[in-house]
Amino acid sequence: MSNNNENQELFEKIVNLAKRRGFVFPSSEIYGGIRSTYDYGPLGTLMLRNVKNAWWKAMVQERLDVVPIDAAILTNPKVWEASGHLATFTDPLVDCLECHERWREDQLPLNGDEKPFCPNCRSTNMTEARPFNLMFKTFVGPVESSSSVAYLRPETAQGMFVNFTNVLNTSRRKPPFGIAQMGRSFRNEITPGNFVFRTREFEQMEMEYFVPPEEADRWHEYWCKERYDWYLRFGINRDLLRLRKHEEEELSHYSSATSDIEFLFPWGWGELEGVANRTDYDLTAHSNHSGTRLEYFDQNSQTKYTPYVIEPAAGATRAMMAFLLAAYDEDEVAGEKRIVLRLHPQIAPYQAAVLPLSKKPELNDLTADVFSRLSRHFMCDFDDTQSIGRRYRRQDEIGTPLCVTVDFQSLEDNRVTLRDRDTTEQVRVPIESLGDIIGDKIAEGR
Ligand code: GAP
Repeated sequence: MSNNNENQELFEKIVNLAKRRGFVFPSSEIYGGIRSTYDYGPLGTLMLRNVKNAWWKAMVQERLDVVPIDAAILTNPKVWEASGHLATFTDPLVDCLECHERWREDQLPLNGDEKPFCPNCRSTNMTEARPFNLMFKTFVGPVESSSSVAYLRPETAQGMFVNFTNVLNTSRRKPPFGIAQMGRSFRNEITPGNFVFRTREFEQMEMEYFVPPEEADRWHEYWCKERYDWYLRFGINRDLLRLRKHEEEELSHYSSATSDIEFLFPWGWGELEGVANRTDYDLTAHSNHSGTRLEYFDQNSQTKYTPYVIEPAAGATRAMMAFLLAAYDEDEVAGEKRIVLRLHPQIAPYQAAVLPLSKKPELNDLTADVFSRLSRHFMCDFDDTQSIGRRYRRQDEIGTPLCVTVDFQSLEDNRVTLRDRDTTEQVRVPIESLGDIIGDKIAEGR
């Protein structure tokens, strides 16, 4: 089978698994859905939360130099005027003059004569490109007038810039320091698609790191490495990751240098995260538009300056998709084919599953005790239907790293069987130490 077919097959397997096991559902499906919009099911909700927790831990909890905020999605529209989004956050929109489908000109495939053609009908007969602003417009309050226009945020970043002085004054930080937040962003993408890769509503995890201007290059390099290593740490193989520097003409209106951390998706390399040097663009723009100077006064040198900003900006939903693709595997256990998601234990929806060997009431109390001990510390599943082999397979398929089986022997010796997803190895361990053993394995990522 060609690589292309294999990639397409892997993509379809992930989309099917996501629906079949409750990771991701098409949104409002009973009404026919709404294009490229998704709801996260029970497992997807757990996994997405774990992706965000892993980011939060690395970017906020484990650092003395980063503080969090949680800004509103709706803002004064002047924010987007100042940031440049109203004028420049556009994609080049073209219409196919034959089938009337709409496309982003820069994403059209080229034919043998290097001419862009319509992916739907293959015609090269297109309108001229015109800029289309990606921000969702709405109205605040009951009157739809120009004075009540507001925009859903297309990035979380601006909430951090406009709160720069508030955070500086209340958190007693000084450059270099960062403000981090995660949350929903909205873009009226012309061509959303590839499952949750490009959607109109998505989750971002962004950090704005404010530095003295002369240190910007050094910090840019530092954050590229930190963020690249984060994906490796959570189980993405080096072969599927690369850091790619933007060409001059690719740079966003605010950036002097950007490197993308890219993942090898089934259709090719695609951005997971951009690490940009935003210079003093945003703080200066907001200072000029608002009349409030967003600067730092350095007590040592008794001088004021506008910090430069290094921004690692990641997509949580896109990262989740990459983790799923990277983890998907099929192997054979005892002559039987199995699907296994080799997810990092901290990213997997459940860290453990408690499985009583039998439904007989004798096992009920002990099983409940084991579940209650573990669920205080870990997200645990419980399953008592069908054979133990089938239950292991079900857990393998959703990436649960450890299964705990309670059997009749457990009533005698207070031990349970701990089964490892990847090796399928089973060991008997005392119930007393179960929490510590599982905790160590999860912390070490095995
Ligand atoms: N504040 C900078 C910024 O927003 P970006 O490269 O436009 O930069 C950052 O977005 C990340 O957000 C991307 O790397 C991607 O992971 C995610 N992202 C952007 N647009 C997206 C979309 N339409 N659907 C899903 N994720 C998206």
